[in-house]
Amino acid sequence: MIIAHLSDFHICAYGARLTQLQDMPSRSTPVGRGWETVRREGDWRIQKRRASDSSFRIRDQLRLVDDNGIVHRVTKTLWGVGESRAIDELLGLVDVRRRNTPQELAENFPSEAELETRLQRDPENLNLRFCAVAHAMRRDRPDRIVITGDLTDDAEGFDLILRGFEPFFERGQISCVPGNHDVYGTPPLWVRKAHRKKEAEKRLLWATFASSVGLPAKGSHVRELGDGVLLVSFDSCHHAPLPGSASGMVHERDLHKVARELDGLGKQVRLACLHHHVVNPPLRHVGLSPIQAGMRLRNAKRVFAMLKELRFQLVMNGHRHVGYRYHPANSPLFLSAPSSTIGCRSGEKPYYWRVEIDGDSVGAVQEVPIPPRI
Ligand SMILES: [Fe+2]
Ligand SMILES: [Fe+2]
Repeated sequence: MIIAHLSDFHICAYGARLTQLQDMPSRSTPVGRGWETVRREGDWRIQKRRASDSSFRIRDQLRLVDDNGIVHRVTKTLWGVGESRAIDELLGLVDVRRRNTPQELAENFPSEAELETRLQRDPENLNLRFCAVAHAMRRDRPDRIVITGDLTDDAEGFDLILRGFEPFFERGQISCVPGNHDVYGTPPLWVRKAHRKKEAEKRLLWATFASSVGLPAKGSHVRELGDGVLLVSFDSCHHAPLPGSASGMVHERDLHKVARELDGLGKQVRLACLHHHVVNPPLRHVGLSPIQAGMRLRNAKRVFAMLKELRFQLVMNGHRHVGYRYHPANSPLFLSAPSSTIGCRSGEKPYYWRVEIDGDSVGAVQEVPIPPRI
């Protein structure tokens, strides 16, 4: 059996993540920390920040803000381009991003050739990159796809997931768990109040998506994949009572429930998946230590002990956008997938883990690049 382990697509309204704080206007800085609107395109804005306003900046800059107030990660430095040409380029991007919403792509799923053309124009667009992931799966045809959370950036775009993986959903070949971005409330600093979703609303959206493809709407569960392989999906998305927390934990009741269910089953290859990492990413990886604060699995020691005791052979996670594997003695192999759309924090472009289950054990595990490598 061949399993493709994917993670962290972060599909979003216009293909740009909620990663940048928008500069909220205030009484002292009415246009928001020195950004002034120089052009409007519907509810989208092109804003300019002048170099003369700061001793740290030597060039004027332009940026793009969408109708949700999200700042897109494209900043144009007006250096040798000229302002009007830079504005034209950003207007072109507004057009592209408005046409590549999850809803549009789900209705008219692009062919591989069409997708490549669109990616040439907007290579950073996560919605388009997700379409590339879906095409890679349709080509490679794994027996199973396991997705370890953060399918969406803010619970928007499940229809594109359904469309992209349609052939696999039809055959019941996909298993997935939610990530913090799928189900935790929208972080307050990133998005205007009117556009924020509460946790209960996002849980409901997840439940609707999961139920529509025959997956349990909530909690952890055991699933037989056939050929003597069994997959346990743990819901690790239970945050700390702190604003903006992205940490998680697996409820004790879920651990007990799974242990009870496994007790009655015979000899199987036991696999597990969850969003949060049980074992840490390597420190000082390419010179940078991944920051743990607010990200960790709070009861990782307990989960690790339980996975070991129940003789799991492989544990898959996402969340950190770092691809790594770690195999402690007499323990499961821990496999962390990078983001299948953004890539790995090491700088590596997107890839997925191809896992071969060979008889009663985990066989070859390989990184498979996701084209096009733009
Ligand atoms: Fe993520
Ligand atoms: Fe995450």
